[in-house]
Amino acid sequence: MKSVLVTGGAGFIGSHTCLLLLEQGYNIFVIDSFINSSSRSIKKVLLILKEMGIDAQRKIHLTNGDIKNPSDIEHIFKMSYKLDKKIEAVIHFAGLKSVSDSIIDPISYWENNVVGTINLCKVMEKYNCKNIVFSSSATVYKTESNKLLNEENICEPVNPYGYTKLTIERILKNLHSSKSSNWRIASLRYFNPVGAHHSGFIGEDPLGKANNIYPQITRVAIGKQSRLKIFGSDWPTSDGTGVRDYIHVMDLAEGHLSALNYLIKKKPQFIAINLGTGKGTTVLEFIKIFEKVNKVKVPFSFEDRRPGDNASVIADNSLAKSLLNWHPKRNIEDICKDGWNWQVNNPKGYLN
Ligand code: NAD
Ligand code: WQD
Repeated sequence: MKSVLVTGGAGFIGSHTCLLLLEQGYNIFVIDSFINSSSRSIKKVLLILKEMGIDAQRKIHLTNGDIKNPSDIEHIFKMSYKLDKKIEAVIHFAGLKSVSDSIIDPISYWENNVVGTINLCKVMEKYNCKNIVFSSSATVYKTESNKLLNEENICEPVNPYGYTKLTIERILKNLHSSKSSNWRIASLRYFNPVGAHHSGFIGEDPLGKANNIYPQITRVAIGKQSRLKIFGSDWPTSDGTGVRDYIHVMDLAEGHLSALNYLIKKKPQFIAINLGTGKGTTVLEFIKIFEKVNKVKVPFSFEDRRPGDNASVIADNSLAKSLLNWHPKRNIEDICKDGWNWQVNNPKGYLN
């Protein structure tokens, strides 16, 4: 397989995955509406590769387009045929991802995530491209205990965003089961992606306000915010704060390449796979490690629990390890170091 379409490739996880794809010699086509990103991330990807002695300029075709418009997607498939770089697989990152925004504006989430994916699948079918790796989320799980979550756990999202992800999984599963199907589909359920490429050239730069823990920690550390509000000190966990499975974005990116390699070698199928480390970190542990590794202070205060939160969300990643031969290589210290390096080098994100 030589040519891959990456939807949402300018975003946080997409840009790190584009870097790996280009490093491994793939031709990539990227479609992004830049609703939550900037084309500068792709320029930085090319810069990292240049420093590695790889000139990937001609290997990447970036289009400002929206998957809500089927013609934007078709345009790229046509281009790939014209260039004799026929798209053989899709890594589908494009989507809106804020849980809180999805509660305020569910229609936009259904339209962007679900309608966008239906458009994509229709065009893929038309061009007989039936290999797809989809960005799902641990949000599809209902979590009631501190046990590791495996792929068979009950899927019952508690917010519209999670429902869009579960619905897309069902659509993809139906596609695979359809009569003449030879779709190969991997739905990767990410846990909590954080960190940045170790170069400090690319990282997370959301355009709106990011409510997740990591951007909050760095905002406090850099002095843009006086303290971190910790949501709950009375969870049934080792220190009373919430436990999550934080996964380095480069480990996640590697998981996509492993999934692609797995799919093309195997028979048509739909498979959902967790991508997490299998290790939990409390909010207090996260702060302490961040302070120690980066020699900065992160003042905090305890607040009420955040509505809809769970005590503990940790992946059972045994399926990814056994099927994909994928093993996360980076730990929470690397996450803190690399994420901070990106922040310090790019205080204004890609606006620098
Ligand atoms: P991101 O917002 O940085 O990247 C998504 C990209 O998709 C952005 O570049 C955005 O501009 C683009 N996009 C959105 N709608 C589009 C559309 N209609 N047409 C074209 N481009 C569009 O987010 P991310 O963190 O890189 O997440 C990538 C995917 O992984 C998303 O689908 C997200 O739901 C999923 N996911 C993310 C997390 C997380 O915490 N980051 C966790 C689980 C799953
Ligand atoms: C982590 C922990 C908070 C902020 C969300 C989505 C999920 C996925 C990843 C997309 C929790 C605590 C947080 C703060 C805090 N995204 N916290 N103070 O909620 O596990 O997952 O992002 O798919 O779908 O739901 O991530 O980073 O918001 O929270 O104390 O200011 O940090 O209570 O314990 P979450 P998070």
